[in-house]
Amino acid sequence: MPDAEAAADAAPGAAEPADPATRARAALEAARRRTMALTDPVSEEDLVAQHSRLMSPLVWDLAHIGNQEELWLVREAGRRPGLRPDLDHVYDAFQTPRADRPALPMLGPAEARAYVAAVRAETAEVLAEADVSPGNPEPLLAGAFVFGMLAQHEQQHGETMLATHQLRKGMAVLDAPAPPPAPADAAGLPREVLVPAGPFTMGTSTEPWALDNEQPAHTVEVPAFWLDTVPVTNGAYQEFIAAGGYRDPQWWSPEGWRHVQDAGLQAPLFWSRAGDGWTRRRFGHVEPVPDDEPVLHVCWYEADAYARWAGRRLPTEAEWEKAARHDPASGRSRRYPWGDQDPRPEHANLAQRHLQPSPAGSHPAGAAPSGARQLIGDVWEWTSSDFAPYPGFAAFPYKEYSEVFFGPEYKVLRGGAFGVSPVVCRGTFRNWDYPIRRQIFAGFRTARDAAPGEGA
Ligand code: AVJ
Ligand code: FE
Repeated sequence: MPDAEAAADAAPGAAEPADPATRARAALEAARRRTMALTDPVSEEDLVAQHSRLMSPLVWDLAHIGNQEELWLVREAGRRPGLRPDLDHVYDAFQTPRADRPALPMLGPAEARAYVAAVRAETAEVLAEADVSPGNPEPLLAGAFVFGMLAQHEQQHGETMLATHQLRKGMAVLDAPAPPPAPADAAGLPREVLVPAGPFTMGTSTEPWALDNEQPAHTVEVPAFWLDTVPVTNGAYQEFIAAGGYRDPQWWSPEGWRHVQDAGLQAPLFWSRAGDGWTRRRFGHVEPVPDDEPVLHVCWYEADAYARWAGRRLPTEAEWEKAARHDPASGRSRRYPWGDQDPRPEHANLAQRHLQPSPAGSHPAGAAPSGARQLIGDVWEWTSSDFAPYPGFAAFPYKEYSEVFFGPEYKVLRGGAFGVSPVVCRGTFRNWDYPIRRQIFAGFRTARDAAPGEGA
């Protein structure tokens, strides 16, 4: 993808904090550039095809983006009649599961493109007229929250569409430069970092565009623990495979063992055996699996089994967030591991600048006070935690964003991947998915309890 796009995407208001309307306009424009980069080069046939039963046709995502924007920005925030309320049922994610969406009476590619553009023209008028000052007592408008929410929504579908591209058979229509090689100190990093015991502030009550499930800020007591300095690499993961990890029930949870057999799992998704090594398919390219890159496309059960085999465990969500945000010097929680400034390319591999993770040990400028690297960007990290509300949670602005998903069937992922926009990615952001899912850009790192006396 062209660099200018990525640069604009990577820095919404990074230089100086712009006013909420300017930030909202920039975030919506960046999201639309991303949406177009993911759909413009795609043939009509590939836009309407279903490339996997796990995903919607790309043309559904495209018009769904427009429909949600019409609903929230034109009708809700703008109090206008809207453009195509008759389409709501076609683009309501809850009415039709992804597998069944090809049968919906969807707009075709040209109609969908015209629709999202027409919605955006009205959105621009609404934003120009709205009072988005932080003091507006209407919480949807204050600080331009609902505009930021829709920019995040569009960018989340930008990641979903990227996953559809990865699942597409045939030639890649997306390409990007490889990330820089690992820095010189990467090979000598300690295997793990110690996060001492003590309370920290989890979640946020001040981040203007934080979603409901990230709120409110609350204190959590976390015992001392050790965390991998970097995510688990392909090289380390191959040792688990070579040691027969997929065939030995002692490493797997009972549900994980059932799943690995039922699904016939033997390696991460998109990997194939090649001689005594492995190749992978990555956006249409078949290439050797790079040993020093964080492992990608593993499900929660695989991450959990690897950790047990390594004599370790997955970190809890609270441990992950403490390692990523807690600053022992000030006692406060940062917005990001490196501080409070919005992400720049040296901090983290985000924004689809590269279409693969950076090598393990990259981004020293993005390290947390604990010394852990790559907590933001590169790969989503599975945690051991179920998706649950924080104490004091209140659904806003609708129950279907988070509340209906709370419960033990979803596991939390943290930190974001190379395909995630910075507008969606912060130290408090929570993602969730089923423990069997592998098409998402997920890897993991492992943890262990500190011994008595360590970090007390
Ligand atoms: C937060 C990624 C789980 O894709 O289901 C998109 C984001 N919500 N449209 C999803 C979302 C509504 C959501 N995840
Ligand atoms: Fe959506």
